Amino acid sequence: MAFTFFFRDLEPLTHAVKFLMSAASGRSRIRIWDAGCAMGQEPYTLAILLAETMNPFAFRNVQIFATDYDAPLLEILKESVYPWDELQRIPTELFQKYFVPAEKEGHFRLVDQIRQCIQPSLHDLLTYKAIRDGFSLILCKNVMLHFQPAQRVEVLRMFYGALEPGGIFVTEHTQKMPAEASPMFEQLLSDCQVFRKAEAAA
Ligand SMILES: C[S@@+](CC[C@H](N)C(=O)[O-])C[C@H]1O[C@@H](n2cnc3c(N)ncnc32)[C@H](O)[C@@H]1O
Repeated sequence: MAFTFFFRDLEPLTHAVKFLMSAASGRSRIRIWDAGCAMGQEPYTLAILLAETMNPFAFRNVQIFATDYDAPLLEILKESVYPWDELQRIPTELFQKYFVPAEKEGHFRLVDQIRQCIQPSLHDLLTYKAIRDGFSLILCKNVMLHFQPAQRVEVLRMFYGALEPGGIFVTEHTQKMPAEASPMFEQLLSDCQVFRKAEAAA
């Protein structure tokens, strides 16, 4: 089972939402790719943060493409039902707003408003083929640490190609940008791995 939890490592996510709001303002559609999303806790957290930030009309135009190469994990994401002990980190008012009791005792399901912006699909990052392009934000956290250095660079090259101009890329704080990939991404914050797609890359 992949290690992940709701509202994990919130700082880069909240910064990403802020940058996304200015980068994607006026867009009819905001496309986000959460690559290596495990059982859904991360993309659903992001969706809740966006729902809290945007007006409901604009939020309807958000699509979060949530991918992982592990099919059973994606099945959990699709069901979007989690036991209470995995939900305790969620601030009470957000838990009450975005979760409803599920059929199974002690379990809760995300509300449709949040579920419907998530588009799950199977995808192996090491194919180096993006699921599509035109993303305003790509999130890939706690995934690339298992890759070889050359694989990391190829995956980052793929993300570069899949981002729209000015698009945002977020990874975990322990993941430093490899020198070969640095020309492709401009780091936006000194203490967070939040980057903007560089205008011209090598
Ligand atoms: C530790 S979890 C991270 C979940 C979430 N991103 C987070 O930070 O909480 C790592 C996830 O990466 C996925 N993963 C590992 N290698 C992958 C690959 N080559 N392609 C797609 N997903 C992969 C695993 O299946 C697992 O769900």
